[in-house]
Amino acid sequence: MPFSLPDGWSGRTLAAVRTKLLNWFDKHQRDLPWRRDADGELASARVPYWVWVSEVMLQQTTVAAVVPYFERFISALPDVHALAAADEQRVLKLWEGLGYYRRARHLHAAAKTLVAQHGGELPDDPAVWAELPGVGRYILGAVLSQAFDRPLPIVEANSLRVLARLFGYPGDPREGEGKAWVWFAAEAVVPAKRAGDFNQSLMELGALVCSPTAPACDRCPLATTCVANRDGLQSLIPPKKKPVAITEVAEVGVVIRDGDKLLLCQRRADAGRWQNMWEVPHAPRAEGEDVNAAAVRIVKALTDFDIEPGAEVMTIKHGVTRYAITLVCVEGTLAGGAFVPGAYAGAKWVTPDELAEYPVSAPQRKLMTALADPNRQPRLF
Ligand code: ADE
Repeated sequence: MPFSLPDGWSGRTLAAVRTKLLNWFDKHQRDLPWRRDADGELASARVPYWVWVSEVMLQQTTVAAVVPYFERFISALPDVHALAAADEQRVLKLWEGLGYYRRARHLHAAAKTLVAQHGGELPDDPAVWAELPGVGRYILGAVLSQAFDRPLPIVEANSLRVLARLFGYPGDPREGEGKAWVWFAAEAVVPAKRAGDFNQSLMELGALVCSPTAPACDRCPLATTCVANRDGLQSLIPPKKKPVAITEVAEVGVVIRDGDKLLLCQRRADAGRWQNMWEVPHAPRAEGEDVNAAAVRIVKALTDFDIEPGAEVMTIKHGVTRYAITLVCVEGTLAGGAFVPGAYAGAKWVTPDELAEYPVSAPQRKLMTALADPNRQPRLF
């Protein structure tokens, strides 16, 4: 390993860091549902399936957002057998609103593999986990350390910040050599026992104390050891992320009506995002293109239906990765043609109150909630 601990750091310093952090965690950890054991007690002996589901949800999402999703998911699909047997649409529906739906598809596929090849057990075996879809070094370390107390490291946004400050790493731990360094650091500190609690304590310290812009060093159990605190470098370590350039996109979506029904289209399995989920047809509007003209063109291109464009329903602003999308939704009355799959895998005519059953993206859910709202004026259906 080309990296080393800071000057003057010994095995004893590391041992003290572990003890202080674990003691702090025992006192200050949040009461989160996946931290309970099967009897409902906060404990180190966690339910492996709960740990796995929670860690997959937490990979790109905050704790506050995850808690209600986690509880609903576990009630609906209480173990790996239930998850493996579930229809993909059900899994996507339970995930709806959490985003990054590939995580859900991978979790589902991995559950099927565990049932088909490992008797539905979550195995205490890194080699098995490493082969499962959606399992990278983070999920592997997070699950095996928390579920089976294996001394494996984890690195995510919160622990990355804690480790960079604690060791005073001057580079960017998110890029190039810095990435390798931060995994080295995580591996160096993880203890032989209570590795799962320790890994969670790193994340918890990052979330509750060692925050990006206003770290509460006066409350930090590691303040006397932390190199960034000693040198007053908290605002420089880790370096700020480079802002990503945001591209504005104007889109038009069309609620195609035929009597009391509207057309719901299913995205293709090979779509760039929201695979197999449902939506009203939408696409970018050309520069200077009239909204009504765009609606007619988009519907024809995506479904082969002809429509008579109508009133605007609502405008939805949302962000997807580096795009800031303004989606203008209009009504369109069916005027002819027949649906041809291609751009979409399929389509269904549904009533507004059936919309809640289908997994859709967050911006589409805003539209569908409005369509199904009987109190909305003017009434849409
Ligand atoms: N972020 C990712 N995993 C976490 C966990 N187990 N507890 C708190 N925050 C987390």
